[in-house]
Amino acid sequence: MIHFLSTKIHPIEPDIAGGDHRLDIRFADCTVSFSGRIALHSLTLSLTERRIGIIGLNGSGKTTFARLINGLVKPTAGTVTVNGLDTVTDDKAVLGQAGFIFQNPQNQLILPIVGDDIAFGLKNRGLSKAAIEAKTQAVLQRFGIAHLARRRVHELSGGETQLAAMASVVVTGPDILILDEPTNQLDLKNRKMVSETIASLEQQTLVISHDLPLIDGFDRVLLFHEGRLVADGAPDEVIRRYHKVALC
Ligand SMILES: Nc1ncnc2c1ncn2[C@@H]1O[C@H](COP(=O)(O)OP(=O)(O)O)[C@@H](O)[C@H]1O
Ligand SMILES: [Mg+2]
Repeated sequence: MIHFLSTKIHPIEPDIAGGDHRLDIRFADCTVSFSGRIALHSLTLSLTERRIGIIGLNGSGKTTFARLINGLVKPTAGTVTVNGLDTVTDDKAVLGQAGFIFQNPQNQLILPIVGDDIAFGLKNRGLSKAAIEAKTQAVLQRFGIAHLARRRVHELSGGETQLAAMASVVVTGPDILILDEPTNQLDLKNRKMVSETIASLEQQTLVISHDLPLIDGFDRVLLFHEGRLVADGAPDEVIRRYHKVALC
């Protein structure tokens, strides 16, 4: 059993964190079981940093942990709150605050045309057609994919798909973005495009990744192993421990 939880790093200063983007995600004695098998062991934790990396071997509980934050997975025991909102009792409000970009973002793009898919997230919000169009154009520009607005979703490259999925989530205005292995299977050019976009996000961002250079420079990194948080701190230190865990 590995247990070398490190000293937590101090929260970063508000000016570095981007002022009002200091959000608070709290896990209190949170456990998740699937069919009686524990995927995440009792976890108590508070996350306020702006850039948080999540690493660990396949099956270590990373996705389960991340899905708890926007209520896609509910705790079997304990609670998870996002700025005081409980992911079980305030699930709709939490979904609006925490956007999740899946490991296979092509599954997230529902409509065949990129711009239509992004606009789709804004329907049923009482916005005028012109306002939806303006917001869609703005987010396409923001992500550097305005030229893809009328392109077919299934014709995009891996990196373009990732950016389109991010744009379709960001347009709905979440304060927190969770990305599950965003550079997985991308070539170097697409990886660069996606990693630069992630670096430019103003939201609090949690990134699950096996791409260790991507999270180097983050404010805080969490290492999961066999459903437990086993290291928590600055990237260098936690990545070093990951190497030890992986080769055990
Ligand atoms: N919906 C589910 N039903 C049953 N078991 C699951 C489910 N989701 C995850 N698990 C199990 O929980 C463990 C952790 O999975 P996961 O959080 O996906 O790990 P990671 O993202 O680190 O690869 C694995 O053993 C996995 O098989
Ligand atoms: Mg996963």
